[in-house]
Amino acid sequence: MGAGLTQIKHRAVNLWDTCTGPGAKPAPCVFACVFQTAPLLPALQPRTVTMPKFCYPIPRATEITPKAAFLNRRAVIAGLGAGVAFGLSGLPMTARADVMADVAPGPYSTDEALTTKEVATGYCNFFEFGPAKDDPAQHAHRLQTDPWSVDIGGLADTPGPMDMDDLLRRFPLQERIYRLRCVEAWSMVIPWIGFPLADLLAHVGVQSGARYVQFDSFDDMSVMPQQARTLLDWPYTEALRLDEAMHPLTFLAVGMYGERMPNQNGAPIRLVVPWKYGFKSIKSIKRISLLADQPVPTWHAKSPREYGFYANVNPSVRHPRWHQATERRLHDGTRIRTEMFNGYGDLVADLYAGMDLEQNY
Ligand code: MTE
Repeated sequence: MGAGLTQIKHRAVNLWDTCTGPGAKPAPCVFACVFQTAPLLPALQPRTVTMPKFCYPIPRATEITPKAAFLNRRAVIAGLGAGVAFGLSGLPMTARADVMADVAPGPYSTDEALTTKEVATGYCNFFEFGPAKDDPAQHAHRLQTDPWSVDIGGLADTPGPMDMDDLLRRFPLQERIYRLRCVEAWSMVIPWIGFPLADLLAHVGVQSGARYVQFDSFDDMSVMPQQARTLLDWPYTEALRLDEAMHPLTFLAVGMYGERMPNQNGAPIRLVVPWKYGFKSIKSIKRISLLADQPVPTWHAKSPREYGFYANVNPSVRHPRWHQATERRLHDGTRIRTEMFNGYGDLVADLYAGMDLEQNY
């Protein structure tokens, strides 16, 4: 690590101690305060905030954005052919690369400007690899994602391990450009590659008693030494109500920016739930369980007052440490108004009809 980054990290840690007292708990958004600490790293520098004219299109079910211009497929394929491809067992390297590079556009994509790949892969939350935003990019290479299987458990008709290559062969991949809104009040726009979680649930068969879906991340202290140091209970666990899990927006992502998922972003497979705060979008999933009773996800267990089970993006329910009315777009530093359900309200509001969303935050 360069001296500059080391300095930033130390200053961020100090700032966290200053804000909360030494030994305070980690939080998904704790190191948002790195913005205040980063004169050495232009991408993280604070900017004078000017409220832009608000224009925040809500995607309709029928809205399909043509393949974004960011992706030069030929360049990607050529790069992979030149040996840049990630090694994956089962499928030959080039075959897996092609699977990622030649993906049809799916529905629900926003046409907002994309966050650059450099920002999306360099500024990450993956606390198993450390608390600073650049820790995952530096340390997640330790995670071996090949071979990989996802264990299906609980009230499924066909429980058991599902091999990653089988998943990729079985479920047609599509690209979806979604907004990602972190509870730390920053946001990005990311082109994911993957398939609807509903496809997988239909394949494994959901038994009648199932009402929740729980996800567990990879968990191994020898690979993720940070697990020994933070106060979170591992593995990182998240959960959705079954109807949320079956919603067509809910996505299992295996790639981004036309390439296989980088380790720091949750390789080889992660959840993306775009109307919820980013901490629901659990990375490097090892287990999916269908349950009758509501589980207790990691952050909710840690601090239920701060992190609700639902965690729907809601500009009028403030977090004890972050006002949620606005958000900072990481790639250009602009501050924009936060939309209810992150702008996906016309697609998901019905899920919560009659619920008090201030109580059920
Ligand atoms: N999944 C695991 N296993 N561990 C984590 O620390 N962080 C969450 C979520 N998934 C996290 C995780 C948080 S707080 C956010 S905001 C998103 O991942 C960030 O995803 P990104 O780093 O790809 O932007």
